[in-house]
Amino acid sequence: MNYYFAPMEGVTGYVYRNLHRRYFGGADRYYLPFLAAGQSRTFSPKEWQDICPEHNRDMDVPLIPQLLGKDAEGVIWAAKQLQSLGYREVNLNLGCPSGTVTAKGKGAGFLAHPQELDAFLDTVFSALDLPVSVKTRLGMKNEEEFDALLEIYNTYPMAELIVHPRVGKDFYRRGVRFDAFARALPRCRSTVCYNGDLMSLEDCAALNRAFPQVERVMLGRGWIADPALGAPEKRTRERLQAFHDDLYQGYRAMFGNDRNAMMRMKEVWFYHIHLFEGGARLAKQLRRTSDAETFLSLTGEIFRTLPLREHALPGWA
Ligand SMILES: Cc1cc2nc3c(=O)[nH]c(=O)nc-3n(C[C@H](O)[C@H](O)[C@H](O)COP(=O)(O)O)c2cc1C
Repeated sequence: MNYYFAPMEGVTGYVYRNLHRRYFGGADRYYLPFLAAGQSRTFSPKEWQDICPEHNRDMDVPLIPQLLGKDAEGVIWAAKQLQSLGYREVNLNLGCPSGTVTAKGKGAGFLAHPQELDAFLDTVFSALDLPVSVKTRLGMKNEEEFDALLEIYNTYPMAELIVHPRVGKDFYRRGVRFDAFARALPRCRSTVCYNGDLMSLEDCAALNRAFPQVERVMLGRGWIADPALGAPEKRTRERLQAFHDDLYQGYRAMFGNDRNAMMRMKEVWFYHIHLFEGGARLAKQLRRTSDAETFLSLTGEIFRTLPLREHALPGWA
């Protein structure tokens, strides 16, 4: 199996990726949070910090940047820039369900416009000479949209098709649509990577038993919940806390202030707390505090006192 770390905007930036690789590893690739590829022909300072070579040179597994946009020329410009920085593949985001993105016809919103999407893919694939993969949902409003979308996808030489079997309007609220995934899989011409609700290596093995042709899986929230998911032998309290404390220091250095660093850590804790048994009381206190010292004392208490689960539970769902 190939294990891919999912792109998560606001969570899996370069500070997180570098420390995750150093402390735990187990990911065969990391997908970078989306870059907005529009008509501006620039990367924002924040985007540049994430993709620049100095912040990624210690990563010894492939890093795949992701582009979000519907302007083909903007995407081509960004992909060529990334290629010149040394990136060997780019991924197109056709799955983001956020209302501000879909309202502009981007992300999952693009799936509601198959003709425009086809023209966009045609322009992008014709112009680029580096591998391009696609991360998609099954549709914007209903899973039947995937029939027409797949006919389009099947006409392009994609490096892979990463399928998150929900539709845009599901957000993350309902379970994944396994039946629709099972129906679509035999008709996918590209190599398929499955993404959605996997919480452990056992879940990945079960998926592979159900779909033996699927040998690539992408995990997001489950991996944030348990950073040692891909290397269970490294799951010790000491290592988890050392990773956590370094992450906090990394964010302090990146943001230049404790408050923003703590806010970023709270995004991580939203998932990570579910690796511990009985964390509800401390999680509530963590959410409420705006004081960095209290934050550190609460996280220390979690690492010291709460029993570690063998696998995180998806308690946020
Ligand atoms: C906070 C957050 C940020 C995300 N950012 C991105 C992103 O930048 N690009 C993307 O393709 N998907 C993004 N996703 C979706 C994840 O990559 C993934 O598809 C989703 O979480 C389902 O996989 P999981 O069940 O393993 O978490 C994001 C999800 C979350 C929860």
